[in-house]
Amino acid sequence: MSTAIADDSRKVTTHRLYEMKQRGEKIAMLTAYDYSMAQIIDRAGMDVILVGDSASNVMAGNITTLPITLDQMIYHGKSVVKAVRRALVVVDLPFGSYQGNSKEALASAIRVMKQTHADCIKMEGGAEIRESIQRVLCAGIPIMGHLGLTPQSINKFGTYTVRAREEAEAAKLVEDARLLEELGCFALVLEKIPANLATRVASELRIPVIGIGAGGGVDGQVLVMHDMLGINQDFSPRFLRRYADLHTVITDAVQAYIGDIKTHDFPNEKEQY
Ligand code: KIV
Repeated sequence: MSTAIADDSRKVTTHRLYEMKQRGEKIAMLTAYDYSMAQIIDRAGMDVILVGDSASNVMAGNITTLPITLDQMIYHGKSVVKAVRRALVVVDLPFGSYQGNSKEALASAIRVMKQTHADCIKMEGGAEIRESIQRVLCAGIPIMGHLGLTPQSINKFGTYTVRAREEAEAAKLVEDARLLEELGCFALVLEKIPANLATRVASELRIPVIGIGAGGGVDGQVLVMHDMLGINQDFSPRFLRRYADLHTVITDAVQAYIGDIKTHDFPNEKEQY
C-alpha cells in the first residue's frame, strides 16, 4: 500500500478538507452507489465519496444523468452512507430537483440529508442557481459546487467536449467560482476544462477545488468508480486513468463459473451438505 495514504481514521469533514488544501495535501474523491463498493472504497482510505448522479449512466444504463430521480439518489445515498465510517459523503441533487426555485431546492436538499444521513450535497451551476444555493446554505446544509462541463446541462451544450476554452466562457466560470466561494460553498468540482484555467481558479479560491479532466494544478481529483476500475470499457476520455481491468476479471470469473457448472465440476463433494 502506498505510504501517501493517510492512516488517520478520523471522520473527514468539510473543515478537514479545507485544512488539507491549506497544507497542500491532495484530496482523493471517487464515486460509489452501493453498500459493498462504498465499504471497500472507504476502508481503502478515500477522503470523499460522491454518490454521483452518474448512477443514472453506470447503474441504470441511461445515456445522460437527466432521468435519475430524487428518490433514486436517496436510495443510493442511503446504501453508501451505511457502509462509510471515514470518508465525507456527498450526494448529488439530481436534474429537476433544484433548478425550478429555491424552495424546491431546499426541500430536495432536506430530503437528502434527512433520509440518507449524508454529510452534504452537490449542485451543478453558478449564478443561475444563486438563490437556491443561498437558501440551502441558510438551512445549514453544506454544498459542493460543480462548474465547467455540467452533465445535467448536456442538452444545452450539445457535446461532451472540453468547456471554457473560449475567453467569455472562461471568464464566466471564474466569476461563478468566486461567487460560489463567496456564497459559502465548501468545495468546488471543475469538470473537463483547460488545466491552466483550473489551476488559476484553485490558486485564487480558499476552498478546495477538485478536478475531473481539469489537470493536476487543482486540490484533488475525482473519477467515476466504474471508469477507473475498468468495469465500463466504452468510455475512454483522455483524462481517465484505469487502475484495474475489472471487466476482464469479472468476465473470466463468470465464464469459469459457467464452465464448472456445465462440466459438473461445481459443486464438488466438499461444497455440499
Ligand atoms: O455524477 C458524478 O459522477 C459527478 C462526477 C463526474 C464529478 O458529478
